[in-house]
Amino acid sequence: MNRHRVLLHADWPILCQTRFPFGPDSALTLISTTQRLTKTMLHATRTGLANPLRCAFRAHSVPKRTFVSLRLPIQTVALRRQLGRRSASGSSGARSTTTIVALALGAVGLAGGWYYYSQQKASKDGTGAGLLSKPTESDFQKVYNQIAHRLVEVDEYDDGSYGPVLLRLAWHCSGTYDKETNTGGSDGATMRFAPEKDHGANAGLQATRNFLEPVKTANPWISYSDLYILGGVAAVQEMGGPVIPWRYGRSDKDAAFVTPDGRLPDGAKGADHLRAIFHRMGFDDREIVALSGAHALGRCHTDRSGFSGPWTFSPTMVTNDYYAILLNEKWGWKKWDGPAQYEDKSTKSRMMLPTDMALVKDKAFRHHVERYAKDNDVFFKEFAEVLRKLFELGTNLQADYMTLKPVHA
Ligand code: HEM
Repeated sequence: MNRHRVLLHADWPILCQTRFPFGPDSALTLISTTQRLTKTMLHATRTGLANPLRCAFRAHSVPKRTFVSLRLPIQTVALRRQLGRRSASGSSGARSTTTIVALALGAVGLAGGWYYYSQQKASKDGTGAGLLSKPTESDFQKVYNQIAHRLVEVDEYDDGSYGPVLLRLAWHCSGTYDKETNTGGSDGATMRFAPEKDHGANAGLQATRNFLEPVKTANPWISYSDLYILGGVAAVQEMGGPVIPWRYGRSDKDAAFVTPDGRLPDGAKGADHLRAIFHRMGFDDREIVALSGAHALGRCHTDRSGFSGPWTFSPTMVTNDYYAILLNEKWGWKKWDGPAQYEDKSTKSRMMLPTDMALVKDKAFRHHVERYAKDNDVFFKEFAEVLRKLFELGTNLQADYMTLKPVHA
């Protein structure tokens, strides 16, 4: 509790405020405990006062901080007068006030003690129940393992895996970042809220958030924003991709932080659009091409984006196939009623978006497509680094990097 601060405020004579470096869920648990303790303690102080003191508790989250406030307002004129009289008539009023401050601080202190104890216990017994003040690599490995097991267990989805769409969830959480305004990004998990969850680009991602919900229930201490990104890390690693350096510390934000529509790329457009969107996030040409290698995975759905089909024949394996196919296949426009997209001439079963095709039409992009098509190790190395960067957009993470071990890959 060394972050303890006591503020005295004109209208609220006693205000104890404690700052905690975790999300609002943790704060709420702390509040309820503080509330219980303080109610009990204040009961004893009521004697002799015209009106009972009432406590007000509040938690609010501002970027990177959560405040827990314990307010003990001297609420009524009668009470003020009474305290005033006591003060005027001697030192007992002052003593009362001092007692109340001391009790309030004691309550917060006790709650903090309980809090610390529960953290340690939850951490030790590995139940995931309670709160973790400083989760360890093994805590995150446990969450990772649960995601990895679910990826295998729930295999009736699409091409047999939620992996691709889990990666897409992590990317769409992060890719809203705007470096000019420092808004959006993976801190906040604001995609849980309207209107962001209903943005056209996010169609189909509710199923993925539902997929992760049992993992959140089993590990209430992890923030949604860390969980959604960890889902992306697990997906890549479990589908045979490179190890992605991981660190935690994203905090959940409320609906006030949702980002405007239009921050994610539109597959119907070309190279200029790609540059405009990704430069806004802080990526250069090489990084745009490296990120696009994710389209080795998954498929397009007519009921989501309107586009149709997979990019590769191995949509649940991370490989550099996307680049090789882009370069080596012959591509033509697909003849259909849907949006303009390419299909491979040899099998007519693989697709490319206009934005994918821009990577071979544009000279600067093409240079990197060729590099990655030639060497899977180079692709894996640069893909891991660019995903790490993507997943940290809009955050101010301080924790050390962790290496979470693949389970099935
Ligand atoms: C370069 C600009 C990008 C465009 C225009 C784009 C567009 C699209 C579109 C239209 C879909 C199909 C959605 C559907 O119908 O279900 C899709 C799927 C996908 N995208 Fe992208 N994307 C881009 C970049 C990325 C990046 C940077 C990543 C990850 C790092 C990514 C990962 C994926 C994955 C894994 C899928 C398959 C999802 C599934 O199987 O449900 N995309 N993308």
